Amino acid sequence: MLDTFLEKSACRTPINVNGDASVNQQTSFIEQLPKVELHLHIEGSLEPEMMFELAQRNGVSLPFSTPEEVKAAYQFTNLQSFLDIYYQGANVLIHERDFYDLTWAYLLRCQQDNVVHTEIFFDPQTHTDRGIAFDTVINGIYSALRDGEEKLGISSQIIMCFLRHLDEESAFDTLFEAMAHKDKIVGVGLDSSELGHPPEKFARVFRKALDEGFLTVAHAGEEGPVSNIYDSLELLKVSRIDHGVRCSDDENLLHALSNSKMPLTVCPLSNTKLKVFERMEDHNIVELLRRGLCVTINSDDPAYFGGYMNDNFKAVAESHQMSEQELAMFTRNAIMASFISEEQKSHLLDKLGQFVSHYHQDK
Ligand code: HPA
Ligand code: ZN
Repeated sequence: MLDTFLEKSACRTPINVNGDASVNQQTSFIEQLPKVELHLHIEGSLEPEMMFELAQRNGVSLPFSTPEEVKAAYQFTNLQSFLDIYYQGANVLIHERDFYDLTWAYLLRCQQDNVVHTEIFFDPQTHTDRGIAFDTVINGIYSALRDGEEKLGISSQIIMCFLRHLDEESAFDTLFEAMAHKDKIVGVGLDSSELGHPPEKFARVFRKALDEGFLTVAHAGEEGPVSNIYDSLELLKVSRIDHGVRCSDDENLLHALSNSKMPLTVCPLSNTKLKVFERMEDHNIVELLRRGLCVTINSDDPAYFGGYMNDNFKAVAESHQMSEQELAMFTRNAIMASFISEEQKSHLLDKLGQFVSHYHQDK
């Protein structure tokens, strides 16, 4: 039942043929498509303007004199070159209200982009290592998300990430802090520098997190080797792989991911900004979709990588020949891969089905 709307859909027009009419049509389809985001670092949604506002409000000095100067510094060569500047930006976040404002601004962008459900990451250690209390961070984020649900109708979940460049002990300390917030945190993840920090470093932390009832995800196969994808599945028992695009290096893994429908939360603009792929035309997301993998489109760190959800969808659609059904499939996959109840999934699948079947009729 859940799959039929895409087969039944009347909109079979390939949408990226040359010609303005079809480009406009594709843009409008993407803008109106209900979307679900599964890979978003809330600290990565800190826009330079807000960075300046919070720096001023909190008396924090920045090594830049204007938001334009900040933007000009966003020239990355790899993941580490981004992370260095990203952790520096987070220094302006001090009070609960700052975390609230950051999250609220992101939710307003979700509303603009027609994102109906989002599952966001936060990095507690980025803040607790600077003396900010765990509770300050989680309470600010959580209360904005509750308001987002109530006032904007956007549902959400929170996933707490461990910084993999830090040690196991620090991850355990962070997990123990999270225990008091099980009602707010659905799962744990693993982010930061992938090279040199393989999943096995956190196998015991993840086992404990699973025992405590948290779901697990991990960044793997972004810059790192396919062994990180295998180990995340086997040792960390992840429900989703974040990024995972290096899976193309291993035919057996491609088969396994396709057969198991293991979700990959892919971030196209992030991947080109961080030189995982040189050009969007070289990105493998459409090929992975056509090979039957459960791939999704996400924005990762939109303030740093040049765009939110619609921009990511448009960038993929502009550089690959895709049909509307294929674009809608990214949302379908994200709904199936989300950490919401079966009832909520059904509701969102219905909403998507209605959109796809009425899109052309209503014009
Ligand atoms: N990869 C790893 N760590 C991160 C990322 C990413 O893309 N964004 C924020 N932290
Ligand atoms: Zn990420």
